[in-house]
Amino acid sequence: VNTDTTRRAPTSRYLFDNATEHGARHLDLLAQAFDPHTRHVLAGLAPRADAVMLDAGTGAGTIAHFMAGTLLDRGAGHPQVVALDIDPRHVPPHDRITVTAADLSTTDLGSDVYDLIHARHLLMYVPARDEVFDRLVRALKPGGRIVVSDADCTAADNRLTDASPELKAAYAAYQRALVAVGRHDDLLDPDWARYLPSTLRKHGLVGVTASIFARPWTGGQPGLQLHTCISLHLESELTAAGLTRCQLEVLRDGMQDPTVVGYTYPLYTAVGVKPT
Ligand SMILES: C[S@@+](CC[C@H](N)C(=O)[O-])C[C@H]1O[C@@H](n2cnc3c(N)ncnc32)[C@H](O)[C@@H]1O
Repeated sequence: VNTDTTRRAPTSRYLFDNATEHGARHLDLLAQAFDPHTRHVLAGLAPRADAVMLDAGTGAGTIAHFMAGTLLDRGAGHPQVVALDIDPRHVPPHDRITVTAADLSTTDLGSDVYDLIHARHLLMYVPARDEVFDRLVRALKPGGRIVVSDADCTAADNRLTDASPELKAAYAAYQRALVAVGRHDDLLDPDWARYLPSTLRKHGLVGVTASIFARPWTGGQPGLQLHTCISLHLESELTAAGLTRCQLEVLRDGMQDPTVVGYTYPLYTAVGVKPT
């Protein structure tokens, strides 16, 4: 485990790069778009005030901070929330949070450590997702709960409802290029999210429940701005995959236009319990 939180763990393979301006904006937009849903799910689990928690692939660390806010302060020397990421540079410090730079593909998280583990928009991006899932489950205490959320990126090309035919076509081309870029080297599994309930059961979890979060966004709101941000972040990869300059411009104008309405990827969330 690398405790130098200013640097990316050297072995990591991840589609985006938190160190760049667009990488930071991407994490911020994800937090704006999806934190209300995640906070609602976590609050519904009512974790004990002395629970030990892990936010895996914490990104901007907003959910780790939410978790820390639900806990009693037990003083120094009591690990409470671990905010783990290959590049946790954007996680603000907090008394009850230990920020850890580590690659989950290679890091042993130990056994029976955590009462609650949360991982959002992480496993879909980790090539060794089943192995990492095993490690997360092993790290749960018996009776502990895991909350996994990932985005369904299949059929993503027809999600705009109020948009010109030109924008719909550019959006569809962007989604196809993005999935092609992500599939290369298995840096993105666009269809992993839909199988989360069966994946949790396959990994031995019980009492599995699942839900889907989706809402319409207008141009300029976080759910659509996300695509402007990704299109800037991965511009060279997307154009190499066939997206034209003209399509990029139409997409970016559209994602800012308040008359445009559309959904972003549905977020699948599954919750499971490790048997005692
Ligand atoms: C798409 S972001 C999601 C961030 C946050 N969980 C959210 O939903 O807003 C994925 C995060 O997982 C981290 N990540 C990707 N691969 C990882 C790995 N192998 N080990 C640890 N963290 C990883 C990235 O650095 C990034 O911060």
